[in-house]
Amino acid sequence: MTARVYAVANQKGGVGKTTSTLNIAAGMAELGAAVLVVDLDPQGCLTFSLGYDPDELEPSLNDTVVGRAALPDTILQHGEVDVVPSNIDLAGAEVTLLSRTGREYLLRGELADLLDSYDVVFIDCAPSLGVLTINGLTAADEVLIPVQCETLSHRGVSQLLDTIGDVKRLTNRTLNVRGLVATMFDARTRHSREVLRDLIARYDLPLVGPPVRKSIRFAESPTVGATLVGAGTNVPGASAYRAIARELLDLPVDEELTAAAGWTDEQRDEVLGVAELTP
Ligand SMILES: Nc1ncnc2c1ncn2[C@@H]1O[C@H](COP(=O)(O)OP(=O)(O)O)[C@@H](O)[C@H]1O
Ligand SMILES: [Mg+2]
Repeated sequence: MTARVYAVANQKGGVGKTTSTLNIAAGMAELGAAVLVVDLDPQGCLTFSLGYDPDELEPSLNDTVVGRAALPDTILQHGEVDVVPSNIDLAGAEVTLLSRTGREYLLRGELADLLDSYDVVFIDCAPSLGVLTINGLTAADEVLIPVQCETLSHRGVSQLLDTIGDVKRLTNRTLNVRGLVATMFDARTRHSREVLRDLIARYDLPLVGPPVRKSIRFAESPTVGATLVGAGTNVPGASAYRAIARELLDLPVDEELTAAAGWTDEQRDEVLGVAELTP
């Protein structure tokens, strides 16, 4: 096997990158895929959400960046997925990285030997467009862009697409934008549907799976060190992530799962109707 590598990126914080990474990864693992998730954010939220104390890790991704540990030696085996953990030391490593030749390619190079061991690798990017995120985009085959559907979301997406354009020209010609993941979706408001429709049409980006509804359960799950999907929770948002996982693995998504995600035909037509007409 050769893993397909997804970077989950949006330089805006709090849009659901980490939550999407973890729950899509868990959805794929549930379907039998061998999944590695890489925490590329010095805040270590992904690491923490899986039940690890980011400050007690030795070695972590930081050690790989400064050349102290090979990437495979940092991997932790969580029950759901394998993890390359990070902590705040990665912020210091980022500074070291800046002065290195080929700095954009470090993660790509380190991941190369691991690709045969996994079906899928997810890279959870930091809320910035700095050299760490460029490393994530350079190492990836595809980008998933989580967006919270609110006013001005499109400004962030526009800047991110500019950066992705640079990466495609300079370090990763074959990088593909897989599409948007609509997070913390409030299906009751017309506003969120309109914002999503505008994003899809404006940037001609596909929507991956159904929008992920808001649920307080997402905020609670890090405290038990498991993802909502991995814990078998059936709130609509978890069902949406299961549908996204199936779609990315090219598996059929049945109507039952779409309905469980709370994504109705009427909403779908309202959001995708016009966008689908454009070739
Ligand atoms: N569908 C959702 N419903 C409610 N809260 C969510 C949902 N998705 C994410 N959250 C919460 O929003 C916050 C930010 O999400 P997170 O995934 O950490 O974003 P990012 O990685 O982009 O900074 C977290 O507290 C998370 O638990
Ligand atoms: Mg995050």
